[in-house]
Amino acid sequence: MPRLSDVTRGRILYGGDWNPEQWPEETWRQDVRLMREAGVNSVTLGVFSWSRIEPRPGERHFGWLDRLMDLAHDHGIGVVLATPTASPPPWMGRLHPDTLPVDADGHTELWGGRQHFSHSSATYRRLAAAITEDLAARYAAHPALTLWHINNEYCTHDHGDEAAARFRTWLRHRYGSLDALNTAWGTAFWSQTYGDWEEVLPPRRTHYLKNPAQVLDFRRFTSDMLLECFTAERDIVRRHTPHLPVTTNFMPLWSGQDAWRWAEEEDVVSVDLYPDPDDPSGAQHGALVQDMTRSQARGPWMLMEQAAGAVNWRPVNRPKPRGLNRLWSLQAVARGADAVCYFQWRQSRQGAEKYHSGMLGHAGPDGRAHQETRRLGADLARIAPHVAGGAVAADVAVLHDWHAWWVSDQEGRPSRETGHAEILGAWHRALWRAHLTTDVAHPEHDLTGYRMVVVPTLHLLTDRAADNLVAYVRGGGTLVCGFGTGVVDEDDRVRPGGMDERLRALFGIRILHEWWPLEPGATVEAEGGLRGTLWSEELEPDGTADETLAYRGGELDGLPAVLRKGRAWYVSTLPEPDALRDLLTRAAAGAGVRPVLDGLPEAVEAVRRGGLLFLLHHGRGDVAVDVPGIHRDLLTGATVTGRVTLGRYGVAVLAP
Ligand code: GAL
Repeated sequence: MPRLSDVTRGRILYGGDWNPEQWPEETWRQDVRLMREAGVNSVTLGVFSWSRIEPRPGERHFGWLDRLMDLAHDHGIGVVLATPTASPPPWMGRLHPDTLPVDADGHTELWGGRQHFSHSSATYRRLAAAITEDLAARYAAHPALTLWHINNEYCTHDHGDEAAARFRTWLRHRYGSLDALNTAWGTAFWSQTYGDWEEVLPPRRTHYLKNPAQVLDFRRFTSDMLLECFTAERDIVRRHTPHLPVTTNFMPLWSGQDAWRWAEEEDVVSVDLYPDPDDPSGAQHGALVQDMTRSQARGPWMLMEQAAGAVNWRPVNRPKPRGLNRLWSLQAVARGADAVCYFQWRQSRQGAEKYHSGMLGHAGPDGRAHQETRRLGADLARIAPHVAGGAVAADVAVLHDWHAWWVSDQEGRPSRETGHAEILGAWHRALWRAHLTTDVAHPEHDLTGYRMVVVPTLHLLTDRAADNLVAYVRGGGTLVCGFGTGVVDEDDRVRPGGMDERLRALFGIRILHEWWPLEPGATVEAEGGLRGTLWSEELEPDGTADETLAYRGGELDGLPAVLRKGRAWYVSTLPEPDALRDLLTRAAAGAGVRPVLDGLPEAVEAVRRGGLLFLLHHGRGDVAVDVPGIHRDLLTGATVTGRVTLGRYGVAVLAP
């Protein structure tokens, strides 16, 4: 199987989306010259070029792309070639309205933006396959081609009639019979029992709450349909170039796609990442997405897109302050990226994203953003021989599952405040602040290699996953589990007792009497100075726990907020950030997990990759970090003896 290392060959890929079809050809030549000067060694071509290649049905105009591929190759720049299927040309929607997606209210989404295709449309699939076939045939032997990039951020929905037909086929395959579907969906409730397959619909506009099991299956189906679109194009390009890897770029921590399942179908896992430079937890959000992508890739991965400065899709779009682009790029490398790429190389002058930054912004080559682009290119070239291909060491796994996310963000639940992604983020942030490096794992993965496993929340837990957690603890692992876990089975059916009985036995819980969600901003107190937010539970222990921290005051006074039975911890609230960090630090110490480095200042993130130690300073003042021994900083060449000082957004990459 072709791999990312076949493309990188000891380098870190550096570059981004290049959309030269927006520019005259003399600009292309200026581009490649500036790219070389900036250390760019990879560009992504063709992402949205369908109407340029096929301006009228069945025509093919490849001459411009031939010239670009040659130009890149002549300048030593490799090409990540995209299939252009994320934005069909206007003629397609006009001639084939069946290619257009229909939303849950029955409205058709039209051309004029992008991603206006139905994953279920046979016509779309046929036309996408045809252009992919011709693109692959034409460039299979081109020496610039290094990697295939299929479509772009697969994310479309369709609730229309063709999707409905495919949904029924998908459901027949899953359940075999209508009786089994009725059982799985609990259709006895509200007179929803289906007597004919034709009655079964995608979740469309309804008067009141929808059937949650139907919604869950529709989300599974949507992820699977998009995946079919991906694998169809992947198989075409593979036939032409079996030696070249294939990827598609994920959106970061996006709910619409079971990225565990998708990653299995890719040769290279890549992600787009746009933390808000003004968000104090932006760096941690980046770290979570990076840990997740590395775990999906089971090794090095690609940062396919990020912004050199501002984006244009937040209500207020602030640029990255000086140094932040470099810091966050090196953070990605520390956490396993072997590619640092951007949307996009040259900032557009027209179109919907003309206010989105580029590696070469409107300010031109002398602009700050481009000067920083050059500096980063030099930094990456300097460290690449030492870092590319290196593995990231993590003793802790954080569990995440899309199906659990899909059931927990539906209507009609105990609280709207308990967002899966927010809870996942809060727990990961606590581990990040405790300087513990984490992988992210699926609850059914083999966990035996980790000293500690953390479950922020997994509302849906399959039998296999529950058995896996129990076996993990029996085998000597430390498990720390957050509230709302193991509530439903894979059909979204509440487990007897309101929580999986294997988990209750594991943590020493006899009865879960009630959930007590908290109003926004409200807190509950517990022993040990612990203050909880979002949620609390009326738990009756079975007397087997070794340690409890009880709620103090209020309705739950004296009942356990936290239980520890041997190496299994249960936390029935979301502790405030410091308390969660302290609790996880304690659990980690008990599991024999040490922080990456002792005595690290709060603002400094430390990660070990290969034999290197990355120190990343997220603050603006100067900070001193004690590092025992003698090291060489690969970025500066300086020898570091015992202590290194990092300035504003400073980074050190230390080799022994
Ligand atoms: C990504 C997308 C790019 C560009 C970018 C802007 O989601 O793949 O094409 O739109 O966002 O931030």
